[in-house]
Amino acid sequence: MTTGENIEGIIDHKLFSEDDIEAMTDRLGKQLTKDYAGKFPVVIGALKGAIYFLTALTPKIDVKMQLDFLDVSSYGNGFSSSGQVKLITDITCDVKDRDVLIVEDIVDTGQTLKFMEDLLRKRGAKSVKCCAMLNKTARRVDNVTVDYYGAHVQNEFVVGFGLDYLNAYRNIPYVGVLKQSVIDAHRDEEK
Ligand code: IMP
Ligand code: MG
Repeated sequence: MTTGENIEGIIDHKLFSEDDIEAMTDRLGKQLTKDYAGKFPVVIGALKGAIYFLTALTPKIDVKMQLDFLDVSSYGNGFSSSGQVKLITDITCDVKDRDVLIVEDIVDTGQTLKFMEDLLRKRGAKSVKCCAMLNKTARRVDNVTVDYYGAHVQNEFVVGFGLDYLNAYRNIPYVGVLKQSVIDAHRDEEK
């Protein structure tokens, strides 16, 4: 892509519009308000993908909460997980005896979520749950539970509203399927 081109040109079709995402966060916000009533959870955003979803969701959860962020990386080449999850940036709070809610953009193979859950449980969290914008179950390898999610997605590569391809396109304001030609062009560049 050359500079100045409209970024939305890389989208094959829109999957979830701004309104769809708003409806997801409305519904999840109500549910989480009920489920965490009277608790003081630590809500942990998985950087960087979850920041848009977390920003849209948390004002709709009417409970006292603490926010923190964790950056873990698993992506080898742009669109498939390397399987090796690494901790890049740690949270800054103590989760011992705390109710923890991990907020993710998408759970795919489940390896990233498994890594985060194990880490937080090992540190003595009282409960560890996950709320993901999208749940892609087709390639799940780790036995993880996505306790809350906005919608299911098929096994296709999506970008926007935080989701990236090679660290770009996170700022597209909706979720769309990436054009196959964009992936092919990158593969050709790598040859
Ligand atoms: P997992 O460890 O395979 O579950 O991968 C989770 C991470 O992979 C997510 O936090 C995303 O960063 C990334 N990911 C998985 N599928 C997609 C996709 O369709 N688009 C963009 N990122 C994705
Ligand atoms: Mg990510």
